[in-house]
Amino acid sequence: MSNYSKNIWFNGEVVPFEKGQIHILSHCIHYGTGVFEGIKCYDTPKGPAIFRLKEHMERLINSGNNYNMKIPYSVQELCSGTKELIKANNLKNSYIRPIAYYGYDTLGVHPKNCPVDVAIGTLDWGAYVGKDALKRGAHITISPWKKYQSKSFPASTKSSGTYLNSLLAVQDAKSRGFDEALLLNLDETIAEGSGQNFFIIKDGIFHTNDKNANILMGITRETVLTLIKDLGMEYKIEDITQEDLYNADEAFFTGSASEITPIRKIDNHEFSGGRAGELTLKIQELYYNIVRGKNNQYDSWLTYV
Ligand SMILES: Cc1ncc(COP(=O)(O)O)c(C=O)c1O
Repeated sequence: MSNYSKNIWFNGEVVPFEKGQIHILSHCIHYGTGVFEGIKCYDTPKGPAIFRLKEHMERLINSGNNYNMKIPYSVQELCSGTKELIKANNLKNSYIRPIAYYGYDTLGVHPKNCPVDVAIGTLDWGAYVGKDALKRGAHITISPWKKYQSKSFPASTKSSGTYLNSLLAVQDAKSRGFDEALLLNLDETIAEGSGQNFFIIKDGIFHTNDKNANILMGITRETVLTLIKDLGMEYKIEDITQEDLYNADEAFFTGSASEITPIRKIDNHEFSGGRAGELTLKIQELYYNIVRGKNNQYDSWLTYV
């Protein structure tokens, strides 16, 4: 796997890639009992910097707590481990994947004494939805698969097993030639993408939903809301209906891996004349300047390695 980097942080130590192995009877393999994060490190004029590292590690620990999984490292230890790994791998731009999971002890669904193991990997991952989508906008589809509901799983945690829902949606979308899927809730309001939060813009006002819509409360979503406010523009947080969607001027996805991905078309319906929207591209440009260390106003969001 050429795009994986040469070391892994595994239970507190940086070890060679090949040593990052687990037993086939580990609990997580059978029941998806893991929680994880997706973080990005960008090359900046002051060297590699990790975007909103602390917030991601806080969410990781919180995701674990939702499943009574006590992660045996503090936020600070996980942040230092990540920095150590980036240095050891000599990386400028990379995607960072921390994961905590139940290891090997029992195969009962109740994890009893299964250890909580923690690993951090890095990889060279380009544009998540596609390079072209970042510039020209993605063509997405409404998924026939509904988003799982918070009453069944805590949707605002990032947990391995629940991504089977996302997998069905994105597999279906790709098999029908689309770039991504948009999942609806059981009541037909919009939830989110398979790995992204969702925004629309109507008459210059941004709209996105919140945890009432069974979404992961994205760190990029929160970043974008801050930028909208700082730019003196307005946003509304409320459920988004399909009617809102089809009446929107622009639409876009947000996510650490997807960054700000404009949406040019959903099924047969075009936004902004079938192109990436103007306001979307404005937010995208600001976002790139921030993550690439070219805007000092938001320097506190960067952890320099
Ligand atoms: C289902 C889902 N929603 C939203 C997001 C966006 O979250 P964030 O901006 O914190 O990366 C992700 C990204 O991992 C995701 O998988």
